[in-house]
Amino acid sequence: MSDQMLNIPVFLGTVRQGRQSEKVARLIHKEIFKLQDISTELIDIREIGLTLDDEGLSAQLPDFAAKMAAMDGLIIVSPEYNHNFPGSLKMALDRNLEEYANKAVGLVGVSSGNWGGVRMVESLVNYTVRLGLKPIQSSKSLYFPNVESLFDENGVLLDDSYQERISKFIKEVVWLAKTLKWGRNNL
Ligand SMILES: Cc1cc2nc3c(=O)[nH]c(=O)nc-3n(C[C@H](O)[C@H](O)[C@H](O)COP(=O)(O)O)c2cc1C
Repeated sequence: MSDQMLNIPVFLGTVRQGRQSEKVARLIHKEIFKLQDISTELIDIREIGLTLDDEGLSAQLPDFAAKMAAMDGLIIVSPEYNHNFPGSLKMALDRNLEEYANKAVGLVGVSSGNWGGVRMVESLVNYTVRLGLKPIQSSKSLYFPNVESLFDENGVLLDDSYQERISKFIKEVVWLAKTLKWGRNNL
């Protein structure tokens, strides 16, 4: 991959049956996929091989670790469960550490309530900082409240006003990912 190219996957962070967050993750992935000089993929937490018989670095998942080592920025799409992010998401992210160092992270909150997961995002900011990731400014995170009424049955977004917010959010993640990549390579 050239120095110009950025790798920014989208990580869908809930295993819940019937998860609405999947529609949001697919939408963000579709938007970032359109950009030049960015490679992306949708990483589904259900498909990384997460098990409940061990935790942490000693239980690293080689493919997932390689994806985290190769990325320059990560977009995490997470629902709010009891004002926090899902335990499965933490179990997954806890499997790596140095792979995250000085890389950008953009957080996307999803909820059926009116707040779009804002309390969850606050918690995820603190946690991702601990991991060594660099979150974009909190006020520039992206929120999908009342998610059940935002998409039609084919997963098409019904509210056009989101497009501008999505593209501003992606621009912010790309800027930080690019800046930090330069820093990692040159300083
Ligand atoms: C265990 C659990 C706890 C939840 N807690 C909250 C909450 O604190 N705030 C909220 O707005 N929605 C809460 N919800 C509803 C989610 O926002 C809703 O399921 C939404 O569709 C996003 O999650 P999903 O991707 O799992 O569908 C909760 C859902 C579950 C399953």
